[in-house]
Amino acid sequence: MTCTVAQLKEVSKSYGAGHNRVLAVDRLSLKVAQGDYLAVMGASGSGKSTAMNILGCLDRPTSGEYWLDNCPTGGLNDDQLAELRNRKLGFVFQQFYLLRELTALENVMLPMAYAGVARPLQRQRAEAALVRVGLGQRLHNRPNQLSGGQQQRVAIARAIINRPALLLADEPTGALDSTTSNEVMDLFGELHQEGMTIILVTHEQEVAARAKTIIRFADGHIQHPPLPPSPPQPPPLRHDGGTPMASVSVPSPSPSPDQAAPILPGSSVTVQDPRSIYQGYTGIVQRISDRRAAVLFEGGNWDKLVTLQLSQLQGR
Ligand SMILES: Nc1ncnc2c1ncn2[C@@H]1O[C@H](COP(=O)(O)OP(=O)(O)O)[C@@H](O)[C@H]1O
Ligand SMILES: [Mg+2]
Repeated sequence: MTCTVAQLKEVSKSYGAGHNRVLAVDRLSLKVAQGDYLAVMGASGSGKSTAMNILGCLDRPTSGEYWLDNCPTGGLNDDQLAELRNRKLGFVFQQFYLLRELTALENVMLPMAYAGVARPLQRQRAEAALVRVGLGQRLHNRPNQLSGGQQQRVAIARAIINRPALLLADEPTGALDSTTSNEVMDLFGELHQEGMTIILVTHEQEVAARAKTIIRFADGHIQHPPLPPSPPQPPPLRHDGGTPMASVSVPSPSPSPDQAAPILPGSSVTVQDPRSIYQGYTGIVQRISDRRAAVLFEGGNWDKLVTLQLSQLQGR
């Protein structure tokens, strides 16, 4: 019997309201079984990242349900979601997001520190993971002493160190040359062979071809059946005219704090709110809804990915 690791049930996600409403994900249902290896493809703006953010508990659906490892996530608060991310999910991003002042070993130890693993065990497991990804000779190097491919392998070791139920990768080879990209994809292939459940977003056909199943997104849902490669795409019927992030706007002449000028994904923010334990920390916005931002803090410590109100942040 196959066990379901993640399930989206009629999940929709919309941003904005009225004329500005964008339906980024539209009644998406998806069952991910243990050991699956899915590649997600689709035109820019088709909802891939929104779906990944929901699967990664970085964002919540507007409607529908998301079950992770047989638990409904709908009723969980931000702290509970953060804990779930630490225990059940591993993330790999295009830009690696390693902490630059820490060595490879220390970067990989971090998620275990947050999970409360004893320090000697952290070290032992981090070493084994780095040996596993072929970096046994680079334990004490900092990210700037490593190549892009090596940095991504450290990030993969960090992502799998707490033995996540689901490994999510958003364009993991997007910043790598083709040789290095192949090495990194070999590693994903090996992890899949070892039983890891993987969902990977890519726009590269050769990368997607390595997965067990390719899913194509169009207009916020999965295209059935898959279309032949690259049919001419009509422009998406979206208010943003096909340039996803850049033109997102929340017009508001005299904004209340929560509706102030939007902070766009990728921009740098500093937490202002003295009540937040992240006050004074600077991070990168991963995703925003109308009022909330998931922020990846300094150097990309993914354990500190939190969802904050926009009023708690100041853009830079
Ligand atoms: N925070 C946001 N506010 C408003 N619209 C958004 C936001 N995030 C994404 N969108 C819109 O949702 C749609 C899907 O975006 P996204 O999930 O990023 O697509 P993809 O990753 O496939 O390029 C796009 O039209 C995009 O402009
Ligand atoms: Mg995207």
